[in-house]
Amino acid sequence: MLDSESMSRRGLLKVAGLTALAAGLPASKLFAQPAAAGSPVSSGRALRLAHLTDLHIQREKRAQQGVAMCLHHVQEHAKPDFILTGGDLVMDTFATPIERSRALWDILNATFKNECSIGIENCLGNHDVFGWHKEKAKSTGEEPFFGKRLALENLGLEKPYRAFKRGGWRFIVLDSVFPDGNGYIGKLDDEQMAWLDGELAADTTTPTLVVSHIPILGMTMAAEDKANKAAKLPWNLMHADGLAIHRKFVTAGNIRLCLSGHTHMHDRVELGLPGLAHDAPRVTYLCDGAVSGAWWGGRKNNCDEGYGVIDLYPDGRFEHHYSTYGWKAEG
Ligand SMILES: [Fe+2]
Repeated sequence: MLDSESMSRRGLLKVAGLTALAAGLPASKLFAQPAAAGSPVSSGRALRLAHLTDLHIQREKRAQQGVAMCLHHVQEHAKPDFILTGGDLVMDTFATPIERSRALWDILNATFKNECSIGIENCLGNHDVFGWHKEKAKSTGEEPFFGKRLALENLGLEKPYRAFKRGGWRFIVLDSVFPDGNGYIGKLDDEQMAWLDGELAADTTTPTLVVSHIPILGMTMAAEDKANKAAKLPWNLMHADGLAIHRKFVTAGNIRLCLSGHTHMHDRVELGLPGLAHDAPRVTYLCDGAVSGAWWGGRKNNCDEGYGVIDLYPDGRFEHHYSTYGWKAEG
């Protein structure tokens, strides 16, 4: 298991390939961590959770079989108290007609129900939004299930963002995805930002973990071709308001860890804020690789299909490792 300290020593550039090159190691050695099979329970741990993001369930490419295999691995090896998903649960309902979109949610729910006995808390991703690309989805925008409502209905959620407490920790689930033409942008809208301000002000002591689909801050987007071609940060790969949110988190003082997915690559960024006391807490942003790898087509930029395992402690410390589950994509 990699502890916080050993991870942080590797510096801020945590894009799988770049980090591996810097260390002179193949990326698989760094990020294809074997599961903590029968891992010893760290003393005093408050909770263990598994972070499964970017499942992209579909009929093709044995995706349902892959998700089931991952869920079995989580239950057999990681044995978490609960599973936290990071969004992109289904494949591209954003631009898919409603009949197939509904079928994908049915497959996902059947897989969760039949293959997993651990509680699951869900977060929405861009692929989970129905019909924002109206031409491809053949949607009008007037459907009662348009946008995020189809996902909320299927996941039994009232809102796409929320907070809850468990094991002495607070969990804040954010909704990162907002319309931008036929596409989307990563940010919080005014309503959610006001809610977040209230949530942060209401509790400044409970150690808190935040999950969003799109990274609030991260480095994996630097490894994307479209970022390099545009020579600027693409705001559908990282929150456009990430620094503003980071300021709120550092100032709050009890935001310990922010999890994300979306880029299907693993990275880690630890950041403080200028002008604060030297011992002011930093916030750690961890992007985990995807359960689906490159959408069930193999590894994404040398990052294996996998999931994050996070141990949380009562004093706000955490430990994280990335676990593969043995999936082999079809050649
Ligand atoms: Fe994804």
